[in-house]
Amino acid sequence: MDEIYREHLLDHYKNPRRFKELKDPDIHKHDSNPLCGDDIEIFVKLDTKKEKITDISFKGQGCVICISSASMLMEELVGKKINEVNKMQTEDMLKILGIELTHSRIKCMMLPLKTLQKGIVEYFSKEN
Ligand code: FES
Repeated sequence: MDEIYREHLLDHYKNPRRFKELKDPDIHKHDSNPLCGDDIEIFVKLDTKKEKITDISFKGQGCVICISSASMLMEELVGKKINEVNKMQTEDMLKILGIELTHSRIKCMMLPLKTLQKGIVEYFSKEN
């Protein structure tokens, strides 16, 4: 990994963006990686039509990849449509992170997105 990129990741790890609890979130989901016990909690506020993310934040603990990917993901998702978030996959996260990862680290990278997607499914299954 080149030095500049390593610093970029470490910066997100040490100073995670949107690392806080949101009051009265529409979606609040907690999940963990059973392999290491690291965990992530995601908070989301939706627009009145429940189509877009208007605010999003996270809390939790994890390895550098997990926390950096959560932090970078938060920055990408404000204003994003829920149906687009649902479609996001490993390749999308790799693009956001901008690095290649081994299989075990892909699980770390995917924990924040998977947690959010589970929260979205639960929220909309309760709504209907
Ligand atoms: Fe725990 Fe990466 S080692 S999420």
